[in-house]
Amino acid sequence: MTALTLSTSSAAALRADAVVVGVTKGAKGPRLAPGAETVDAAFDGGLAGVLETLGASGAEGETTKLPAPAGVKAAVVLAVGLGEAPEDGDAFDPEALRKAAGVAARTLAGAKKAAFALPAGAPEDVEAVATGALLGAYAFTAYQSQNSGGKAPLGEVAVVGAKPRDKAHKAAAERATAVAAEVNRARDLINTPSNDLNPTVFATTVQAAAKEFGLKVEVLDEKALAKGGYGGLIGVGRGSATPPRLVRLAYTHPKATRTLAFVGKGITYDSGGISLKPAGHNETMKCDMSGAAAVFGAVVASAKLGLKVNVTGWLALAENMPGGNATRPGDVLRMYSGKTVEVLNTDAEGRLVLADALARASEESPDAIVDVATLTGAMVLALGEGRFGIMSNDDEFRTKVHTTALAAGEDSWPMPLPQQLRKTFDSPTADIANMGVRMGGGLIAGLFLREFVGEGITWAHLDIAGPAFHEGAPFGYTPKGGTGSAVRTLVGLARQAADGTLL
Ligand code: BES
Ligand code: ZN
Ligand code: ZN
Repeated sequence: MTALTLSTSSAAALRADAVVVGVTKGAKGPRLAPGAETVDAAFDGGLAGVLETLGASGAEGETTKLPAPAGVKAAVVLAVGLGEAPEDGDAFDPEALRKAAGVAARTLAGAKKAAFALPAGAPEDVEAVATGALLGAYAFTAYQSQNSGGKAPLGEVAVVGAKPRDKAHKAAAERATAVAAEVNRARDLINTPSNDLNPTVFATTVQAAAKEFGLKVEVLDEKALAKGGYGGLIGVGRGSATPPRLVRLAYTHPKATRTLAFVGKGITYDSGGISLKPAGHNETMKCDMSGAAAVFGAVVASAKLGLKVNVTGWLALAENMPGGNATRPGDVLRMYSGKTVEVLNTDAEGRLVLADALARASEESPDAIVDVATLTGAMVLALGEGRFGIMSNDDEFRTKVHTTALAAGEDSWPMPLPQQLRKTFDSPTADIANMGVRMGGGLIAGLFLREFVGEGITWAHLDIAGPAFHEGAPFGYTPKGGTGSAVRTLVGLARQAADGTLL
């Protein structure tokens, strides 16, 4: 990953390929944001004017590159738009800083080192600039030949104006590094094609990370799952040549007073199964393990940050394929909880693997369970590509998850679990069916999951089907492909649980 340093040198004096300055949108044209002072001095105070001449306005996402004048060590000045300036005395919106830093880092792909001379007075600014730059620099190049034209990600981000010897600034940089690395780890897993990332490979990858970071890991293979009665995982995985896995990854802190369980949907490929998806709906289904990737990243990040909390990650891994041994529509599965489920549509597989993992996670009586899943197309229709839906059996907890996501820079919205929809997945044959009516499909999936959460356990469900995978052009710090959605929200929840402010 791109390296991060905090530099004491001035923006103008730092030896780098480029120096990044911020521009805001003023009533009378573009204005320089704090951090750009020494660079502006090398322009004799005329940088904002030069930018205006070049057509810059300071709008969000805008970039302007110009050759650096004498007095600036870097070869290039990159001005990046921050949008409207905050009111006098107010801090910059951290999301505006993250986005601008992300755009700059992506624009500078191919360069070795860039000085980021954006606002960096408060530790929050440092964290935002560093996070945005490290996330924006991300590129997935594992499958591209060296000569196919792709540029290497920016090598080093030097945040100028930050104080490397200041405890709060250092901690902010460490948080940014750990969290961005784990978001990028999730992105790599999501982007890895399903022929190279099946449930077994995923489980082995988690085991290797557990060893590296001193975490406890247990993997249930197909034999253990069958013996344990995990009918959901077995039922979904049985049509595939690569068998399912349930992974338990645990980070514990000796002084922890709270335990969180994170549960992730890990369908390494969702063909739909016998209820096969048509062409046009299956090209991006390698992303159907994004929930498990987010949970994995969040547990590792909690460990890297040494949070005073226990975090257990449950990864429900299976490949949903229509093989000769596959579950048929109409089959009945006996789930880990003992409930029976009639599978009316094998494409509603996520809720089946999650049901087992939720029931198993509940046995350990955590203080709260949060599941993350690319669960329904209905949630994408409801909320669009950019945000995940939050459902919960506790309104106050749902609100907390929502505000945590917002603070982390992840767009989301609270969704209801209307009791009148519950009967729509009654089954004439089994205890329940795995689908109900089409309308409100995302909420029905949430209601289904609720059936498998242990009595009295606080639970939230994040349906990330929209934001998990970005097919359009990159923007801000969001790349094409896997986004690492929900990692930052989960880490935010773990941090609050550690502080005693969550539960
Ligand atoms: N993995 C899909 C949901 C999905 C859709 C994720 C689009 C990302 C983007 C899920 O397993 C699925 O197919 N759900 C069905 C449920 C239905 C059959 C009740 C759906 O949403 O259509
Ligand atoms: Zn499906
Ligand atoms: Zn799916």
